[in-house]
Amino acid sequence: MATTVDVNGRPHDVSSPPDTPLLWVLRDELGLTGPKYGCGIGQCGACTVLADGKAVRSCQLPLSLVKAAKITTIEGLGGTHPIQAAWVKNDVPQCGYCQSGQIMSAVALLAVNPKPDDAAISGAMDGNLCRCGAYQRIRAAIKEAAAAPAAVPAPAKV
Ligand code: FES
Ligand code: FES
Repeated sequence: MATTVDVNGRPHDVSSPPDTPLLWVLRDELGLTGPKYGCGIGQCGACTVLADGKAVRSCQLPLSLVKAAKITTIEGLGGTHPIQAAWVKNDVPQCGYCQSGQIMSAVALLAVNPKPDDAAISGAMDGNLCRCGAYQRIRAAIKEAAAAPAAVPAPAKV
């Protein structure tokens, strides 16, 4: 039976069983490979996407619980989002594997706290692991994005 999910501003009919983690639906059914599989147990943050603007671990969210939530993946940021621009300017990624999740957590943070201090950044970001140790550049990019106007524009339709 098809389930309709709202991803990046559009409804999508998907056929995965209800207990399928959203991460697999996004990657395997919708071809949105920005969210990454890291640990599969909710511990690394590589799979982070937004559900109604909040950062969620898509490896831990079964399709049956997505319901009418508006899901945003990094593809939905459109590539020109101020946070992505700050990431580029600060040359944040090393291998890049964790970065989709890092950026989505940063978007969720700035949506509720446009000018986060170090403690707020730590609180929002410490659960996103980076094996390359890009933490200082991630923090710098968040602060730079926080200084930009319109840090959280509407997601693009992809
Ligand atoms: S893959 Fe989801 S938290 Fe690690
Ligand atoms: S940039 Fe390599 S894991 Fe974070």
